[in-house]
Amino acid sequence: MQPSRLRCEHREDVPCVDTPAPRFAWTLNADGRNRRQTAYQIRVWPDGAAHDDPTRLFWDSGMVESSETLEIPYSGLPLPPASTFVWTVRVRDESDIVHGWAEPALFRTALDSWGAVWIRHNPLVAPSTRPSDDASYPAELLDREEPSPYMRREFQVDSEISRATLYVTARGLVEVQVNGQRVGDNLLDPGWTDYHKRIEYQAHDVTAYVRNGPNAIGAILGTGWYAGHVGFDHEHPSAWYGHSPELLCEVRIEHADGRTTIVTSDGSWRATRNGPIRYSDLLHGERIDARYGLGGWSKPNFDDTDWSPVLVSETPEVPIIVPARAQPIRVTAQLKPISVTQQASDTFTFDLGQNMVGWVRLAVQGPRGTRLELRFAEMLDRDGSIYTANLRSARAQDTFVLAGTNEIEVFEPHFTFHGFRYVEVRGEIDPLLPENLTGLVVSSDTPQTGSFTCSDEMVNQLQRNIEWGQRGNFISVPTDCPQRDERLGWLGDAQIFLPTASLNMDIDAFVSKWGDDVLDAQSPSGAYSDVAPRIVASTDGAPAWADAGVIVPWTHYRRYGDLRMLRRHWPHMERYLAYIERENPKLLWSREGMDDYGDWLSVDEHTPPEVIATAYWAHDASIMAQAADVLGNTERKIAYQDLYGRISKAFNDAYVDDDGRIRGNTQTGYVLALAFGVLPAEKRAKAAAHLVENIEDRGWHLATGFLGAGHLCPVLTESGYPDVAHRLLLQDTYPSWGYSIRHGATTIWERWDGWTKHAGFQTPEMNSFNHYSLGAIGAWLFEYVGGIRQGQDEFTYENVLIAPVPGDLAYARTTYRSVRGTFVSDWVQADSRFTLKVDVPPNTRATLTIPAGSGPLLEGGSSAQDAAGVTSVQRDEQFWTTKITSGHYEFQALGVQPARGPKF
Ligand code: BGC
Repeated sequence: MQPSRLRCEHREDVPCVDTPAPRFAWTLNADGRNRRQTAYQIRVWPDGAAHDDPTRLFWDSGMVESSETLEIPYSGLPLPPASTFVWTVRVRDESDIVHGWAEPALFRTALDSWGAVWIRHNPLVAPSTRPSDDASYPAELLDREEPSPYMRREFQVDSEISRATLYVTARGLVEVQVNGQRVGDNLLDPGWTDYHKRIEYQAHDVTAYVRNGPNAIGAILGTGWYAGHVGFDHEHPSAWYGHSPELLCEVRIEHADGRTTIVTSDGSWRATRNGPIRYSDLLHGERIDARYGLGGWSKPNFDDTDWSPVLVSETPEVPIIVPARAQPIRVTAQLKPISVTQQASDTFTFDLGQNMVGWVRLAVQGPRGTRLELRFAEMLDRDGSIYTANLRSARAQDTFVLAGTNEIEVFEPHFTFHGFRYVEVRGEIDPLLPENLTGLVVSSDTPQTGSFTCSDEMVNQLQRNIEWGQRGNFISVPTDCPQRDERLGWLGDAQIFLPTASLNMDIDAFVSKWGDDVLDAQSPSGAYSDVAPRIVASTDGAPAWADAGVIVPWTHYRRYGDLRMLRRHWPHMERYLAYIERENPKLLWSREGMDDYGDWLSVDEHTPPEVIATAYWAHDASIMAQAADVLGNTERKIAYQDLYGRISKAFNDAYVDDDGRIRGNTQTGYVLALAFGVLPAEKRAKAAAHLVENIEDRGWHLATGFLGAGHLCPVLTESGYPDVAHRLLLQDTYPSWGYSIRHGATTIWERWDGWTKHAGFQTPEMNSFNHYSLGAIGAWLFEYVGGIRQGQDEFTYENVLIAPVPGDLAYARTTYRSVRGTFVSDWVQADSRFTLKVDVPPNTRATLTIPAGSGPLLEGGSSAQDAAGVTSVQRDEQFWTTKITSGHYEFQALGVQPARGPKF
């Protein structure tokens, strides 16, 4: 029984931790059935020492009698700061066998204080305006020039190095080089936080970069979210944070003789703005002019006499500088164009075949001064030209100017990103070929955890579109869209999509970090903001948007078991609930005249905002009661149960008639009331019937916006209409998920009618083709069609349900790598037989629901009853219910009529 996927503070890579008691977790791998861990032993020691040297161990937990594999806090000797540790674990199994130690993993401890100071380029030193040999450099480009600062210093190392670690952050964006080599492969560091309140830093092992003798360190800064355009900010770089980027870094060099020397950002650095990055902005793009090449600027002995001394910053100190919580942003895939068409003698359009987020690498050869203008678009217009109107004010344009070196020159931007499928390249250059261009897909590098495939290719495309939407919009924060002048961490979008996102990928650390952005953005009133980090309109308290402050920590806890995060959020959640009640003493949340987005982008249906808001409030109260229970706070649990009851009653009295009809008679009204359990038992079936009538009246089409779309299919399924849910899934006429796919969508669109055959493009004012919200149906594919899900009171996948809802699909294969290991549900229905193969990881159990027919239930070809690991088999008229322990199983129910799902 080998522990694997060792995680420290929710990360498998090397985290830098700022807590005295980092938490450990692992996953168990073991063959056979009913495998369990009965005890574990953890050891922690400094990197470089041996784990069996008792004098060097910081912690040896000894064999602890426990089956726990999650959230185990360190409790050894105090961990010194700025150090690297190794940890491992071994376990004892159900037969008292103690197995071998796991492959060790590393973690670092945070700096206790910075020896470095913030530095920046002296704004009074102007950059040179045009390359010396180009008098015709276009004036409009010069106007926009705001070149990136390059900074450097040299340092001497005079004794053998045992380890060197770089700690680095920026107000803005930063890339570091040591001795001519780029450090690591992180992009867009340090990501986005509310820089007034919190900035993250990265720690890199640079032992291989630093050497005994002369060294140089260099940094390139970009404006990024700190000093560039963000949000709806059309004309001027955001004044939200600051005007020019700044650097903070230190290299701690540990020597073989036990000494430590530190090289820091300080007044001795020199800077220039005469480097090749002439302009960069997240929304507008980047301009690189290779004629400004700086040669070996980050190597020792570079002549920097025409560089100027940096300024030590006077910007007020940031209250909190913390190590980066989540995985860095990286290139996670590369795409080659599927075609290139020549539009004009100097214009080529590349099609990458996939709406993606990131940028391109262009490899070209040409004379000095050749200028290539790149524009990016998600769609083509009718005449085949790129459609950019929907980017609004985001210029999304990169410019590359060749140095003319007689060799192939390779261009790639540093401090921008675009959302696009098509790239138009314009410039005086030989015909371009697909080989010249590569799409670099950029995303927060959250590990993949889920997969879903089934017999319907359109549904498979839907799942791919959902994943691409996630990849492209998880860039430091979960954003609404990646292409136009917006790209904000909208709370409503996030709360709807995170249940799906957390099945596709391990977003444990990512959301833990964004959770702090949400807390940083909470208003003094207690209201959560519309977007986090808070920027643009300073509005807050919008129903279903602000409610993310309650919903996200709770759904996150259920998936990942992060109790510390729930504790951190709890007092804020309490303040929020108090705020809503203060504003709405009658227990009906009416937001007249206030911030309210309603069921955003619904079609032909308007759900009364007070119905949505009050249902969400009840949902909050119910979550609070459950969270209080988990936190052991019985008094608050009772108080919130009571509040939940009172809001539900007020909701019913005000908005629901005896026949279960809800004010507005809209799909979303029914869906939310049913999803949040605010209706009394006797009205549930009636309300569900009204919902189905509504769908039928629309020719089996949905009408919901963001809020209804996520809960629609689960509610239909749980209310006894799995066939209606499947019908909506497979619908391909407007409006439906299938409609966009039938018209070539490779991501989830912001709106059902982003493009329609009857009306063409929707208004360019708001028409993104990469918005994940409507992809919230993804959780239903995993949890209902695949059937792998948690029961109502179940946390962290210890005792799951596997209850496929097959509809008319012939097969579906679903995998989910939970915090406790991988669950698989792989079913096929054919020839009066329902076959279900499942994997259930060690230490967990599952209850299976399998359609029953006239024949028996077999496992591995024999009676399921007698199979090893099966603890119970029962059947009613329609279903087998089987309880199993860990392991791989192959069940077959015989004599089954196809297309039946479990009853709820
Ligand atoms: C965003 C949405 C967001 C909404 C709020 C839009 O501009 O793109 O996704 O939730 O505003 O209504």
